[in-house]
Amino acid sequence: MDYREIKTPAFILDLDILEQNINAYQESAHKHNKRLWPMIKTHKSTEIAQMQSNAGASGFLAGTLDECESLQKTGTKNIMYAYPVADKHNISRVIELSKNCNFSICLDSADAACLIDEAAVNSGVAVQYLIIIDSGLHRFGVQPQNAAELAKALACKKGLKLIGITTHPGHVYAGSDPEHVRKCALDECSALKTAYEALKNTGFACEIVSSGSTPTFNNEVGDDLINMVHPGNYVFNDVIQIANGTAQQSECALSVLATVISHPSEDIYICNAGSKCLGLDAGAHGNDSIKGFGLVKSHQELSLIGLSEEVGKLKAGGLTKLKIGDKIEIIPNHACSAANMTGYMYGIRKGCFERFITVDMRNNSGKPLTNFG
Ligand SMILES: Cc1ncc(COP(=O)(O)O)c(C=O)c1O
Repeated sequence: MDYREIKTPAFILDLDILEQNINAYQESAHKHNKRLWPMIKTHKSTEIAQMQSNAGASGFLAGTLDECESLQKTGTKNIMYAYPVADKHNISRVIELSKNCNFSICLDSADAACLIDEAAVNSGVAVQYLIIIDSGLHRFGVQPQNAAELAKALACKKGLKLIGITTHPGHVYAGSDPEHVRKCALDECSALKTAYEALKNTGFACEIVSSGSTPTFNNEVGDDLINMVHPGNYVFNDVIQIANGTAQQSECALSVLATVISHPSEDIYICNAGSKCLGLDAGAHGNDSIKGFGLVKSHQELSLIGLSEEVGKLKAGGLTKLKIGDKIEIIPNHACSAANMTGYMYGIRKGCFERFITVDMRNNSGKPLTNFG
């Protein structure tokens, strides 16, 4: 079936492009002798994770414990959770994961670490952790020169085991030119080097030195010290990656197919895909260089100037042949947010529907077994 016959709105995933993206990053990681543990919060799909693993990914970085548990249930051995936890239910989940696979967590404070340590000691496990280093995003993380201080404070904890350091140069998304991308990649490498040296000089070894973002991937993959990389968005790419020079439109795998349902005035058209398909992101972490809420393929004259929940408002900036009933295809500004809006995608190849790709690892997609656990 021609994919344009699919009911709208629909999430369309071009499988050729998806596979090309997965293979290109994997080959580069392989060439540079780096472990690629992709960040899977981008797609939240066990099927896409399996494709990454088949291509050579030896583990995964996850953005939620739901993702960690889904991966573990499907037999994934190496799972890293990107953020700290600090409530008793999530601490128990971390301990269960530590019992069942090669699990690690990322921490940036003694307070959260001590909460985990206490529960881990009671359960007889040592939870593996990496120290999060702030390389410029100023979200999580200790300053690089303070990494050894945290390691020292936690050295006596029997329920914790330091295995490395990690960072995410998310400040790369605050700008949109290649020079800014290069600067952020330098930030991540130098922050990790400073932290690594500080730890080494105090007697702490780092088995893992990890970092990742899609825009900085090409720089970090060639760094001498970094031995594990975590790009996520690269599987799909999106308008943000086009804007910062990381990807071209032909490398964007995910789009939303919509139908024009109204033409209320001369240059305004309404389509049946809104914020509940595309998300409202202009750009991750503060990029305001992106105009509009997505890129309409093959219609340079159209701007997606507004989104309500279920409909989008398009403005024609010149002559257009668009009419009610036409199908349009929109590349989301931020594919990670868009993919989280659906339970499945239509996997297409050469313009024809091939198979559904399920998005089965979304937060709260699995109910807890007990009342509040
Ligand atoms: C901690 C962490 N690592 C890696 C990534 C992947 O970055 P990207 O989506 O730019 O590939 C993210 C994304 O937000 C992240 O939060």
